[in-house]
Amino acid sequence: MKGMVVRGATVVDSSGVRRADVAIDDREIVAVESSIDAAGGRRVVDASGCLVLPGLVDLHAHLRDPGNPECETVESASRAAARGGYTAVVAMPNTDPPIDSVEVVRYVQERATRAMTEVAVAGTITAGRKGERLAPMGEMFEAGVRLFTDDGAGVQDALLMRRAMEYAGGLGAIIAEHCEEARLAYRGHMHEGRWSSFLGIPGIPAEAEEVMAARDIALSRLTGCRLHLLHISTTGTLDLVRKAFKAGLPVTGEVAPHHLSLSDAEVASYDPQFKVNPPLRPAEDVRSLVNALVSGEVVVATDHAPHPADSKELPFDQAPPGMLGLETALGVVWTVLTSGSGLSTGLDDMPVLSFEEAAAVVVEAMSVVPARIAGLEGAQGGTVRAGSAANLCVFDPAATWVVDRNRLASLSANTPYDGRKLTGRVRHTIFRGEPVVVDGEPLR
Ligand code: DOR
Repeated sequence: MKGMVVRGATVVDSSGVRRADVAIDDREIVAVESSIDAAGGRRVVDASGCLVLPGLVDLHAHLRDPGNPECETVESASRAAARGGYTAVVAMPNTDPPIDSVEVVRYVQERATRAMTEVAVAGTITAGRKGERLAPMGEMFEAGVRLFTDDGAGVQDALLMRRAMEYAGGLGAIIAEHCEEARLAYRGHMHEGRWSSFLGIPGIPAEAEEVMAARDIALSRLTGCRLHLLHISTTGTLDLVRKAFKAGLPVTGEVAPHHLSLSDAEVASYDPQFKVNPPLRPAEDVRSLVNALVSGEVVVATDHAPHPADSKELPFDQAPPGMLGLETALGVVWTVLTSGSGLSTGLDDMPVLSFEEAAAVVVEAMSVVPARIAGLEGAQGGTVRAGSAANLCVFDPAATWVVDRNRLASLSANTPYDGRKLTGRVRHTIFRGEPVVVDGEPLR
């Protein structure tokens, strides 16, 4: 059998929107035309009523491999990613052991050869993620690493961060910071504000994030190093990013779907499924983040963080922070953008986008720009046209579905969206010219 035709969809990419069929041979798109027949025995993939987008690219996924195979593996995470419409993910290095050496980089790369998406490996900034001395970034760069981060914690020592940025800048790599000033965040478990006072749970102030974001933007100015701010959650951090843009600094930022859709009011349930770091913030911040997404100032990254079921059954202050994200990201973002409201009460008054407008935001913020930041452009995040790599997400913008934590491809179940209704569902995912998800189900 030779190739396939994705038929009946509306193609959306950076060049615009058009009704077209897409023919794929081997790993490449060979034609995008208003009507393509299946001559030559091409397989037909039905995409009527769907949008064909470039495959999504996630800059921030915790694959838990090596170290926690009961939570997730490279393979299971890539299955979850494919189901979410992703064709590439960046594997975060806070594994056990951390990805702080060429040996561990190679281990993850080897596992990635069997994955259902491309997996780009991130390395740590500091040895053992201990924040004391630099990891061998040059050697890891040689092995293919393009993004360095101690995510899970921020690099606390400003001088060490300066050296990391000088070094990474020289390599042409990117430093991705988990902005959290540890002393300010010490022993906090949720956003510090009205709800934390009411619930009696110690809080983490917005300033714990903003102080470090300001420091690292200043260090980007000092060193010239590219800086990517992970999981931005506050209005204040967005203001800092805007100032950095104005000054022409090489700074980018991402926002997680949970920060675009849920507020700290969810913590009133004391349910640790709503515990995440940085924490869910008040409605005003959620609104600022959605506006920043709509105006193209930030990209979306999942911060997919699997945790074992028993750990999320502990009391709120003892449970680990983190939420699954890969399988729900596009549905959550689509629901927010097209309904004008988040998924927590009181999150209305947000911009309501048409399908075309929302699709344009998704293409830029979930595929094109993340691919560029991760250094994956070429194979990922391109335009859907003859000659491009065949990495595609076929998305049904009108399908509604209810998230069921027991029916996820991830090995973990810690989604905050269990039982919530979302609009917009990934129908098929095509990776390197092969359908890996068909009608919502992974093929392996
Ligand atoms: O909530 C979080 N969980 N935030 C992080 O930065 C790390 C992540 C994890 O690895 O579980």
